[in-house]
Amino acid sequence: MPLSVTSDRNSNAASRPDGAGVSYWFRCIGCQAVTATAAQDFRCAQCGNLLEINLASCTTTGVNSGALKKSWRERRSSNHPLDLSGVWRYRELLPVPVSKEHIITLREGNTPVYELPRCARRTGLPRLFAKHQGMNPTGSFKDAGMTVAASFAKEAGYRWVACASTGNTSASMAAYAARAGMRSLVLVPEGKISWSKLSQALDYGALTCQLRTDFDGCLRLLQELVRRAPVYQLNSINPFRLEGQKTLALELLEQFDWAPPDHIIVPGGNLGNSSAIGKALQEMLDIGLIPRLPKLSVIQAEGANALVRTVREAGGERLVQVQAETRATAIRIGNPASWEKAVRVVRATGGAVDDVSEIAIAQAKAEIGAEGIGCEPASAVTLAGLKKLVHQGFVKPDETVVLVLTGNLLKDPDFTMEFHRGELFAGENHPAGSDSLTPLRHPPVVLDATLEALIGTLEQTEKIG
Ligand code: F0G
Repeated sequence: MPLSVTSDRNSNAASRPDGAGVSYWFRCIGCQAVTATAAQDFRCAQCGNLLEINLASCTTTGVNSGALKKSWRERRSSNHPLDLSGVWRYRELLPVPVSKEHIITLREGNTPVYELPRCARRTGLPRLFAKHQGMNPTGSFKDAGMTVAASFAKEAGYRWVACASTGNTSASMAAYAARAGMRSLVLVPEGKISWSKLSQALDYGALTCQLRTDFDGCLRLLQELVRRAPVYQLNSINPFRLEGQKTLALELLEQFDWAPPDHIIVPGGNLGNSSAIGKALQEMLDIGLIPRLPKLSVIQAEGANALVRTVREAGGERLVQVQAETRATAIRIGNPASWEKAVRVVRATGGAVDDVSEIAIAQAKAEIGAEGIGCEPASAVTLAGLKKLVHQGFVKPDETVVLVLTGNLLKDPDFTMEFHRGELFAGENHPAGSDSLTPLRHPPVVLDATLEALIGTLEQTEKIG
């Protein structure tokens, strides 16, 4: 692979030979400069800030929202490969590659909304819902964005795609690259991502580099690499990723028959997902798909709370970086790239930002597991955050709330095993103590293989309740 800067291949598709799809352009979120093409680092050539994609379909007047809803609903009974994808089904609100042959899909999206009755009761709400993005093909919400961005990499003719990751992006990228016949380069912080995520990248054939740094260090290096080498970057700095991730909100609203919930709560790491969901909500309002905006709140781990501190200490005007530390390794990020986008969507929707303790995360994760659903630790910050927001009176008891569960329970089995064995916080001094977790623990029991031992254990368990 020659180490030279390639020409700009991230150009838009303003005019299409087949007249299908939508046209779009890039807009800088800082200086508002508009361009038809983006450099490989997806930063504004004028001021260096991030780009977002603007779609003609969301800015022209006269969108027939009723016809869109009808056509999206009808596609649910179609067997066309694009209609089977819970992302491409909404293609009128996405940038679409000129040639549909370049679209790489694993039938992402199509994720369920579950009710969480026991979590609702514990939280003091009559009803509580979870949109489970962990039910995507590689087990996280990343697939919804990856199908779009990887398709554009394919169309632009890249041989290599790359990302820095806390694990889920790399698993997703490696899968989509493999499907497309592209090579993938993964940069992950050594010792700080779960084995199951790492093993996915290996199995999908990525060149996986465990770097002696944290996620922020990996991302810094990747940004340098893409300026030097013809490697297409698939982090959420890439605005095509966020376009795909918008469909989480489109699908959710469709599942609610377009009656907006009062509140959507999402975990915050690099802050791409909250930005994408916020953009989707705003676009849905602009074109008349929904009558009002739900509040969008972002929850972080206390040890990785850059957005929370940015809002609290700097009024959302400048980023307050932190040295991130949390067992919810997916969101162990101290220098989030999309902080400005996230501040804007939280403000525009009237949501909140807050942070939660390690104990609260572990407790919330076990409570979601006890519903027969489960999620990875980073997703559980949403329930822990909701409890805080209800306690503060920010979420009222009669509100409809949706938690976005971003990753599957199986993504971090070590966390789950340590939790149930009582080893998770062993030797650590937590102010709130971890005693509150004991009733939620279900450690495995080792027994002699006799009926007597088995019945004795059943009776013992029944007694405890
Ligand atoms: N939840 C999970 C399970 C994640 O993997 C991530 C991010 C987030 C929440 C936060 O989302 O970054 O859009 O604010 N994971 C990235 C990765 C950073 O590399 O897999 P965000």
